[in-house]
Amino acid sequence: MAVLKFLFLLSFCMVVRTENAHIQERLFLRSLGLLSRPRPSAHGPVPSVLWKIFKKAEKRRELDACTVPEYGVKGNIVRYLLDQGRVITDSSSGCPACVEHHLYFNMSALEDVEQLSLAQLEVKFKHDSFPATRKDLAFNMHIYGVVRSALKGMAHEPSRRLLLSQSVEFTPGTIRVNLTDLAESWRRPGKNYGIVLALQATRLSNELDQNCKAEITDQGHMEMPELIASLVVVSLNPQQCGSRKKRSAYYLPVTPSNVCKPRRLYIDFKDVGWQDWIIAPQGYVANYCHGECPFPLSESLNGTNHAILQTLVHSFDPKGTPQPCCVPIKLSPISMLYYDNNDNVVLRHYEDMVVDECGCR
Ligand SMILES: *[C@@H]1O[C@H](CO)[C@@H](O)[C@H](O)[C@H]1NC(C)=O
Ligand SMILES: *[C@@H]1O[C@H](CO)[C@@H](O)[C@H](O)[C@H]1NC(C)=O
Ligand SMILES: *[C@@H]1O[C@H](CO)[C@@H](O)[C@H](O)[C@H]1NC(C)=O
Repeated sequence: MAVLKFLFLLSFCMVVRTENAHIQERLFLRSLGLLSRPRPSAHGPVPSVLWKIFKKAEKRRELDACTVPEYGVKGNIVRYLLDQGRVITDSSSGCPACVEHHLYFNMSALEDVEQLSLAQLEVKFKHDSFPATRKDLAFNMHIYGVVRSALKGMAHEPSRRLLLSQSVEFTPGTIRVNLTDLAESWRRPGKNYGIVLALQATRLSNELDQNCKAEITDQGHMEMPELIASLVVVSLNPQQCGSRKKRSAYYLPVTPSNVCKPRRLYIDFKDVGWQDWIIAPQGYVANYCHGECPFPLSESLNGTNHAILQTLVHSFDPKGTPQPCCVPIKLSPISMLYYDNNDNVVLRHYEDMVVDECGCR
């Protein structure tokens, strides 16, 4: 409803045009699942997979909108949560070719009503951070969940639970780990201590071995490749995944007649000052309803019985009873790509964004 109100500020028949624009903005943002207008501090790169899904969603009209085929799960929101952890330097580990990363993903971006469908850790080696000559490096990768005792007065000594252990190559590919169950537990308050990702170099050619030894620093550490980690979170907001409607009248013919019908309206997000947080689309054809609902109300105006009676009364008493309103009766969805307040990239599917048909109500 809020989306609808926002879009039809221009509709002469609706009272909302007199309301404060800030209230409208807030209502609209709330319907997008946002508490306030995002003010991203950094415009990080948009993961290519999100672009791909977005482009497909633009074309895909007849499919069930509340599934994400790329991940094979139900959902209308895909978030790329940025890692907010740090490298743990433990010089006492006695392991010169080891590095441990504490990874932390803030799950508070998810609203309570959202159902988590998938949380997938994606880890990539930052290739320019490491000499290309060490292509034959391999690592043992261990992933631990971090848990803490919740007893009062006790030392909150973090303990670890091994989740996964595998060997990985130093390759340009992405390492993917399904962390759905763990991420679900992170949504409970005070339960998210993140994970620890430990890497240990296991294979070095003889020649490189020499080089590496030389690179072990005073602290007993070997230079290790940098990692980029993110958590892909797919979720479903059941309140925003109604029955799928076909997008039929995308571009509407311009006709001069003054009866109630959809009119073409392109909303440019620049015009509302949102270009700094909405990545795509830059705008879209939203349309709006405008026109008269004259007596006698023809069938093509899709009037309710009430509207038909109202036009009848209006024809007798034009001053005392207004005509019914020309309002949207069929709307279709679009997808949007944006930065949230934590600089995460979010792809989200929104119902009721485009007016397809109007009616007299
Ligand atoms: C997680 O994000 C929320 C707002 O999105 C913020 O209030 C909270 O402090 C963040 N938590 C951490 C541990 O950074
Ligand atoms: C991820 O793990 C969850 C829970 O263990 C499982 O139900 C789901 O099928 C897995 N998803 C994928 C894509 O592997
Ligand atoms: C009324 O609905 C029909 C289909 O149900 C549609 O073709 C027509 O365009 C609608 N009328 C208006 C004014 O949008």
